Amino acid sequence: MLQALNVSKSFGDTPVLRDVSVCVGAGEFACVVGRSGSGKSTLLNVLSSLLRPDQGRVLYREREVSAMGEGELNALRHGDFSMIFQLHHLLPYLTALENVMLPYMNSLRPVSGETRDKARECLARVGLAGKEERLPGKLSGGEQQRVAIARALVKSPSVLFADEPTGSLDKKNGDAVIELLRDVHRDGVAVVMVTHDLGYAKLADRTVVMEDGQVVEDGGPGC
Ligand SMILES: Nc1ncnc2c1ncn2[C@@H]1O[C@H](COP(=O)(O)OP(=O)(O)O)[C@@H](O)[C@H]1O
Ligand SMILES: [Mg+2]
Repeated sequence: MLQALNVSKSFGDTPVLRDVSVCVGAGEFACVVGRSGSGKSTLLNVLSSLLRPDQGRVLYREREVSAMGEGELNALRHGDFSMIFQLHHLLPYLTALENVMLPYMNSLRPVSGETRDKARECLARVGLAGKEERLPGKLSGGEQQRVAIARALVKSPSVLFADEPTGSLDKKNGDAVIELLRDVHRDGVAVVMVTHDLGYAKLADRTVVMEDGQVVEDGGPGC
């Protein structure tokens, strides 16, 4: 469903991805592991269309993401693709519910009742029913990350990208986040997660190991 084919990317003179090819099947749970600086985040950003590769192609459902214009890319980022990060990137002055509705908010029209209901449902799904009106500062780190997951789910994505989503959480909260991601995966969403935690990586269908800008191991089924 999602493929990077012979992708290279440099920042200045420094090659960060060197001829990388990986693929993710529909509904697959894929993990990317490797040392700090090995290019994991860059690979995730290329796959999720946030970064354009210098060379090579990224394909999603047979469409070439790496050749799309801004309009098409925006449609993809606001539709099929969703993203969570190590830090949750919630807006501190919006409530949990408002943060989840953020992808639907614009200054031209109010959020519909239907969207509000969907956002409430997503918060309930991540175990935050009753905390809709809290500001992020009044939630624990684990709860904040769960709000970010609810926000990522509100548009019913086909692929959820997660860059070290447990990186700033203790074990208990990290486990809860992984359990949620597995639950999302069981619902048919493809999950592509960068993690340092080999225990979590073991739970994936496919583990891609990166070293120095290259994929040195791909434990998944063939592309
Ligand atoms: N925007 C950028 N500008 C310059 N160098 C970058 C940028 N992003 C990442 N790098 C460099 O690319 C290398 C790989 O980074 P990254 O993909 O973030 O690795 P990882 O996620 O595995 O830690 C690192 O050496 C990093 O310093
Ligand atoms: Mg990283």
